[in-house]
Amino acid sequence: MAAVFSNLSSVWIPSQFGNSRRFFFKSCARPRLFDKRIFAVKVRASSTAVVEAKPPTEPIVVENEVSSSKSILACPICYESLTLIGNRVLSVESAAGSTLQCNTCKKSFYGNQTHYDMTVSSGAKDYGAPMPPSTEIFRFPLISFLYERGWRQSFSIWGGFPGPEKEFELMRDFLKPALDGNIVDASCGSGLISRLFAQSGLFSLVIALDYSENMLRQCYEFIKQEETFPKENLTLVRADISRLPFVSSSVDAVHAGAALHCWPSPSTAVAEISRVLRPGGVFVATTYILDGPFAFVPFLRRQRQNIAAISGSHIFLSERELQDLCTACGLVGFTSIRNGPFVMISASKSI
Ligand SMILES: C[S@@+](CC[C@H](N)C(=O)[O-])C[C@H]1O[C@@H](n2cnc3c(N)ncnc32)[C@H](O)[C@@H]1O
Repeated sequence: MAAVFSNLSSVWIPSQFGNSRRFFFKSCARPRLFDKRIFAVKVRASSTAVVEAKPPTEPIVVENEVSSSKSILACPICYESLTLIGNRVLSVESAAGSTLQCNTCKKSFYGNQTHYDMTVSSGAKDYGAPMPPSTEIFRFPLISFLYERGWRQSFSIWGGFPGPEKEFELMRDFLKPALDGNIVDASCGSGLISRLFAQSGLFSLVIALDYSENMLRQCYEFIKQEETFPKENLTLVRADISRLPFVSSSVDAVHAGAALHCWPSPSTAVAEISRVLRPGGVFVATTYILDGPFAFVPFLRRQRQNIAAISGSHIFLSERELQDLCTACGLVGFTSIRNGPFVMISASKSI
């Protein structure tokens, strides 16, 4: 059910560094004691009604069938798993000098200073895959430089986006089945939310994935600037959302912030996400929606499809269409949180 709230300035979420609380997880042979930061969300639904979600007082036992963390990368051509040559572990620091080799296709995927290039055409000398404007624009160095220096912040002003920290707080409940497991931040941009995932300590592996090499470089720059950043559980990967380099049913959670409307084909992308999610794995995404005439009036709907075909942008999808898209791709339990044009959706891979 959608929780609709009209004014985001009235959403109050205490700092993630507030109180701390203990949760038990039954993922291993014996229950593991896990420290999870407490968060309470207070949503002012209108000027007269206040909805308050308080954390439960009893410890929560989560049936947490998380995947083994480091074996999820696969060849984007045949989806077979890869052999890592060079370094023994994947991490943001070990990409340079490492190679991932597919024993079936005999293709190698190389790591550079900042990331692994896992696009299908990586290594091609003459061929360059053309992408629609909504993908290509983010490959410009200037755009990736500006992204966290005003561009992303503008989403809050005109799009109702709460901002990275609050978005993370809002999605934490949705991500419970993936705690202590792996998470892919798909279309991570400059990694503003991937970095929060890594710093939270809630996941054993965070993969920040984007098609833009410059966004990944920018992410690396931000990480480098923080001396105490936990680099060992984060890996940066360049890949197309429509051809994800992960073994089927190996991923515990996929997050896609402010990205679905930029994807060349949301249906191919969500189908790929569904393929890589393990049963019970979670998909959480934020995007813009526009309910109303664009969704219902056939003429306007056609115009919207024309705009999407030219620009590659699917910015005017309605909530009903997003739910339909998830269901069509085998995801269940659709839930949403809305604030004007902003929506956070969540759905899981059926068990
Ligand atoms: C508006 S940014 C969102 C960045 C970040 N997730 C956030 O929450 O702000 C959209 C991102 O989608 C990425 N993107 C666009 N097309 C893509 C594709 N085909 N495959 C993977 N990423 C893509 C862009 O490179 C860009 O970084």
